[in-house]
Amino acid sequence: MTEIPVITVDGPSGTGKGTLCSRISRGLGWRLLDSGALYRILALLAQRENIPVTEVAKVAGLVAARRPEVQFISAEGDEPVTVILDGTDVGALIRLEDCGSAASSLAAHGTVREALLEWQRSFQRSPGLVADGRDMGTVVFPDAELKVFLTANPRERAKRRYKQLKEKGIYVSFDDLVESIAERDRRDTQRILSPLKPADGAVEIDTSGSGRDDVFGQVAEIIRKRFDLSAVHT
Ligand code: C5P
Repeated sequence: MTEIPVITVDGPSGTGKGTLCSRISRGLGWRLLDSGALYRILALLAQRENIPVTEVAKVAGLVAARRPEVQFISAEGDEPVTVILDGTDVGALIRLEDCGSAASSLAAHGTVREALLEWQRSFQRSPGLVADGRDMGTVVFPDAELKVFLTANPRERAKRRYKQLKEKGIYVSFDDLVESIAERDRRDTQRILSPLKPADGAVEIDTSGSGRDDVFGQVAEIIRKRFDLSAVHT
């Protein structure tokens, strides 16, 4: 066992990784890493410095040059995780679609993934870390004590995303949403670098048709057994 334990939760977007990780980190009192948010923050920094995402090496260099200070605060209930960048809450900003698509295109480049590797690993601090992403168990924390891989069928994930957008007053075509989620899956699973796939030994959970409490309950039970804990607080 490594000195500071890590739990990784990987899977495509819309499977409930964010909520699950937030709940686990709160329940255990462990730190939280939302790795997708780091890709999004890099896109935001590039945007602020007027560097086009096509200038990949320049954008990747921002991590070392700017040394951004990022903190994740798990939320009460099912609210999204708070993301603090250099003292300012940037959660809403980085979750906008332009940051998301810039992050996704940056994430396809090895120089960017390399630049983020040490940054992501620096979140492994006492007493433990819950890491949310696509390659947490396969690449970033291959020695993690517990690896979870969440799946859900594209229609189910589109339904969740549709609801989230509607709550924000954004209306999109449901069929377009299904198609764009399927397209993102194809990109993420077929890319050569760190493709999205379950890590060896990962516990795979299909969250289609399960509520968030259900999924949390299943994972909390696995954690109790794996870490010999009497309780994971909810
Ligand atoms: O999870 P989220 O949607 O915030 O991630 C933003 C983008 O960063 C995704 O499109 C995904 O392709 C990429 N990403 C990644 N590896 C991670 C986390 C996110 O490639 N560990």
